[in-house]
Amino acid sequence: MTEQSAKLNFGSTNAGLEMRSGTLGPDVIDVTSLYKQGGVFTYDPGFSSTASCESKITYIDGDEGILLHRGYPIDQLAERGDYLETCYLLLYGELPTQREKDDFVYRVTRHTMIHEQMSRFFTGFRRDAHPMAVMCGSVGALSAFYHDSTDIADPHQRMVASLRMVAKMPTIAAMAYKYHIGQPFVYPRNDLSYAENFLHMCFAVPCEPYRINPVLARAMDRIFILHADHEQNASTSTVRLAGSSGANPFACVAAGIACLWGPAHGGANEAALNMLMEIGSKDRIPEFIARAKDKNDPFRLMGFGHRVYKNYDPRAKIMQQTCHEVLDELGIKDDPLLEVAMELERIALTDEYFIEKKLYPNVDFYSGITLKALGFPTTMFTVLFAVARTVGWIAQWKEMIEDPHQRIGRPRQLYTGAPMRDYVSPEERG
Ligand code: SDX
Repeated sequence: MTEQSAKLNFGSTNAGLEMRSGTLGPDVIDVTSLYKQGGVFTYDPGFSSTASCESKITYIDGDEGILLHRGYPIDQLAERGDYLETCYLLLYGELPTQREKDDFVYRVTRHTMIHEQMSRFFTGFRRDAHPMAVMCGSVGALSAFYHDSTDIADPHQRMVASLRMVAKMPTIAAMAYKYHIGQPFVYPRNDLSYAENFLHMCFAVPCEPYRINPVLARAMDRIFILHADHEQNASTSTVRLAGSSGANPFACVAAGIACLWGPAHGGANEAALNMLMEIGSKDRIPEFIARAKDKNDPFRLMGFGHRVYKNYDPRAKIMQQTCHEVLDELGIKDDPLLEVAMELERIALTDEYFIEKKLYPNVDFYSGITLKALGFPTTMFTVLFAVARTVGWIAQWKEMIEDPHQRIGRPRQLYTGAPMRDYVSPEERG
């Protein structure tokens, strides 16, 4: 990291600030000493121009539509690798040798069961509870069972907790789904791959054998890869902030799940599909485009736009290909939702408003159609996003905990409330 300096002059202050360069991407101005030098804070509530940490895990070039995990482009990982290999890469920093991969897969596979008592949690929820509500509660409760991997100062326990989270999230997600639809839980099977196991736990029933469709399993695995990590997005930043206080990793991931649920973030895949269903047919698209442009209408085109990507989201391209593969495999021709989606995309990409604001389809635009075709209800879409993103949350949490300069995150504020004033007794308040 080369060190330069920046000058910030205001009032009687001439602040000298250190500048740092990373491997890729914009330089940063370190403002840690600004308050001490000049008695002022920086102000950036949406973090549009603020780096919250140093990281080696993922890099996004929003202008070029580039996404790298430990330097490897997402399209190469998605097309040539698999999800557990991507998990190893995110957690350990390098692609595994065959032996390392076999060992990692063996360890993850044998952590997929959850404590049998946890299954009683689900019966406390209403059957019609949103599966994301069940995920928040169940994952947070993991720390009530796995005390032997909550000491974050112990590297071994950190890795055990990481493996447990990656391994158990599909099982918990499948249980949330089965509970939601009133079917019995299906235990994980050690003879299946990660994605095959997840589809089996979600769609197998005791009354007949479940046949794994390799095309659908490959599509599921690729969807997991596409959602694995994404720099300092809202839910990852939530996990980092929760972890900065020393909270255990299970509680931190539960906080990440809660943040991901929002429709501006991970909830967008569910919202995007609901939007496509609301539009219903191509001839109604202009009406919704007009609403998206209308400043007085809170409606937004779900699945479009991104804080960082001001070019096409590279994941959306792969998601669109996967969508076509799944629909072809299932013999779903002329899916009306896909037709609406493709026409909406075509119009939006030629419309002046979307071009000027650099609003492109993001990863959530095509995922909903794919997941619906795979057999998932829309309420499960964000749950699947959470399953995939758990490895990214945990890798970023580990990186933060292992950073020797790590401190509790404690932002300041611009206070615009009442100045100091004395208490007034009730009878004097008029
Ligand atoms: C994810 O951060 C990540 O990396 C997230 C994620 C990950 O992998 O973790 O990539 C996953 O969350 C993808 C994003 C999914 N969300 C959606 O699809 C919801 C719809 N999109 C928007 O809500 C919005 O685009 C955001 C939240 C994604 C980004 O919001 P920003 O960066 O704060 O942008 P903004 O709200 O300031 O919008 C800039 C302008 C505004 O117009 P002006 O005020 O400048 O006139 O663009 C407009 C917005 O009104 N705009 C949209 C729009 N998104 C932005 N107008 C219509 N439809 C949209 N979807």
